[in-house]
Amino acid sequence: MPSDEHTILQQDDSPENDKQISAQEQAEREVIIEFDQVTKTYHLYKNDRSRFLYLLGLKKQGMYLGTVNANDELSFKIYKGEAVAFIGQNGAGKSTALKMVSGVSYPTSGKISVNGQVSALLDLNAGFDKKLTGRENISLRGQALGLTRKQIKEIEPAVISFASLGLYIDQPMRTYSKGMRARLGFAFAVSINPEILIVDETLAVGDRRFRKKCVKRMREIITDENVTVLFVTHASEIAKEFCTRGIVLDQGKKVFEGPIEEAIQFYEASQ
Ligand SMILES: Nc1ncnc2c1ncn2[C@@H]1O[C@H](COP(=O)(O)OP(=O)(O)O)[C@@H](O)[C@H]1O
Ligand SMILES: [Mg+2]
Repeated sequence: MPSDEHTILQQDDSPENDKQISAQEQAEREVIIEFDQVTKTYHLYKNDRSRFLYLLGLKKQGMYLGTVNANDELSFKIYKGEAVAFIGQNGAGKSTALKMVSGVSYPTSGKISVNGQVSALLDLNAGFDKKLTGRENISLRGQALGLTRKQIKEIEPAVISFASLGLYIDQPMRTYSKGMRARLGFAFAVSINPEILIVDETLAVGDRRFRKKCVKRMREIITDENVTVLFVTHASEIAKEFCTRGIVLDQGKKVFEGPIEEAIQFYEASQ
């Protein structure tokens, strides 16, 4: 049987076909992330001041605007080694879902299971202590992820080399530009050999050369079949290149899930 399948694949020279996975194969693969009826509800206030006063109990009309389900009974499974694109308009709930995978946010109801170390490229500028140097921040991030001192020392050269900040690596990060911070953020995220990598519209950082380097490194990570990648981008060409499957969200709900080409078609047809 396997040899038959092999012949069929070889006869069909469409590149899409070797990406496709039979239902049986899918069932045998290890589920690494699962969302089960996940809902995330945000309360909306007129502005930050209103939120503050309202939460203190100083309520006035017009301060509280109601709720929005950023994710609405969302269920899906992600299998080990896949690269899956999350597709949808602004506000569809993509970032909300990925933040919950990375553990920076929690569901209001429903269940999420994540079975691997997550490295997230959500906000490349976040999570640095600007008083510390770049090198010190590498340690800080490593510690936050629970890496040992030895593990941190092992990844440090790779991070520094990827970020290519020159002498700035030993300068306080308040002297960095936004682009430089983003470089260090990206370099860290792709150097720790994560089991799950989350990339949310962040490939567009830095200058062209750095962007090319990011895309190259992403390609390496994605072709490493042990790494699971969740990807959010508006550029369908990039999604097609990197991902095998797509999950389309609309107003917090999953409206389509399937092979990447079909997912993009579905999304584009619904625009
Ligand atoms: N921290 C927040 N507070 C209130 N509303 C939020 C917050 N984060 C997201 N939302 C709302 O949740 C919805 C989904 O947002 P998001 O997940 O960022 O969408 P996407 O990443 O697909 O553009 C939007 O309506 C957005 O305004
Ligand atoms: Mg977003």
